[in-house]
Amino acid sequence: MDSILVKGGAELRGEIPIAGAKNACLALMPATLLSDEPLTLTNAPRLSDIRTMTQLLQSLGAEVSALQDGRVLALSSHDLTSHVADYDIVRKMRASILVLGPLVARYGHAVVSLPGGCAIGARPVDLHLKGLEALGAELDLREGYVHAKAPGGLKGAVVDFPFVSVGATENVLMAAVLARGTTVLKNAAREPEIVDLAACLSKMGARIDGAGTGTITIEGVDRLTGATHPVVTDRIELGTYMIAPAVAGGEVECIGGRLDLVSAFAERLDAAGVSVEETPRGLKVARRNGRIRAVDVETAPFPGFPTDLQAQMMALLCTADGTSVLEERIFENRFMHAPELQRMGAKIAVHGGTATVTGVERLKGAPVMATDLRASVSLILAGLAAEGETVVNRVYHLDRGYERVEEKLGACGASIERISG
Ligand code: EPZ
Repeated sequence: MDSILVKGGAELRGEIPIAGAKNACLALMPATLLSDEPLTLTNAPRLSDIRTMTQLLQSLGAEVSALQDGRVLALSSHDLTSHVADYDIVRKMRASILVLGPLVARYGHAVVSLPGGCAIGARPVDLHLKGLEALGAELDLREGYVHAKAPGGLKGAVVDFPFVSVGATENVLMAAVLARGTTVLKNAAREPEIVDLAACLSKMGARIDGAGTGTITIEGVDRLTGATHPVVTDRIELGTYMIAPAVAGGEVECIGGRLDLVSAFAERLDAAGVSVEETPRGLKVARRNGRIRAVDVETAPFPGFPTDLQAQMMALLCTADGTSVLEERIFENRFMHAPELQRMGAKIAVHGGTATVTGVERLKGAPVMATDLRASVSLILAGLAAEGETVVNRVYHLDRGYERVEEKLGACGASIERISG
């Protein structure tokens, strides 16, 4: 398995292009199942998770071609041959559950493997299932699979989510666009990925109102058409690269970055002593003079501080002046990076969902590894400022969500290379 070698100490200067959002693209791709006309997604990220979703859709009989070096995905579902999402694919990637809503909405039946546990928490899919049941789907759980039927088609309903779930909002939204009548999603997720999905579905002819707010209203239509849609900028990749010059020093312009996608995060960076400036091409980020200041962070659904940037923020705060408290409110087990950062000399105490980080002057390079994507990239960020060499092992996780991380950081002067193994 490949690893990444980082030699710490170099300031970063330059620009980093931000890709299309992995998590938006993973929800947009299954939208092809809702129509027999072609769906074209531009600004797609080139990531292993996107290839996994491609495989899953192809296993159902959809055509998916990666064009222009993977930047454009051409999808078509005019001739599906299967309605079964197999465990072998679903277990690799939880977002596979997003085919359930579209399949049952358009074909009236689907068999989708339940995703298992996950490194960052139990992550059940009960809200997805309850939402689809509210629309009239009959669900039966057998041998690890959800067997879904809606012989007479789905019917609009009020779905009031007990708490905010990005995936459940996406799944039920996709099902509702082809349901008869009106669906109201209450306590819906407001993430930019939801807004992007709704925008694409609307181009396909769906009637959706309120995406980006807590209440989304959908008037079902009989059929959807094809569309071409650019995937929204990846706010988590953006936030990750905004931390890079904050950790290492220097100034980086994140091309395509938008402040509205990361406002709560940028506010915390500002409080820590990092300047974030809007430019015609994106966001320019620089560490102000002096040491990073300690700040407290609490993750929350959008527009709050994203859980997917908590690990990277912790890497930054390891060398801050003072003590920071990070509260993880979305996932129950999302501090796996803490023991690895401790191996680099960080002072972190974890109690349940709270991590207390007491800044040290400097981290020291070490061999480290992580069991999820954001934890892995946080170790690379920590390595940028650490004394000596850091080797991040098991970068398979990294490749799920960051394209060419070593090239993007290397182009700004970081000493970083991939070691094939
Ligand atoms: C999405 O996961 C993202 N994944 C995650 O990104 C992100 O961390 C998460 O949203 C929160 O922002 C994709 O978009 C593919 P949730 P999702 O449903 O939809 C609980 C990354 O690093 N829950 O909003 O699965 C759940 O366990 C990844 O890119 C239920 O209890 O997240 C969690 O505690 C990791 N029952 C909370 O809700 C359900 O049916 C929020 O999860 C659904 C969720």
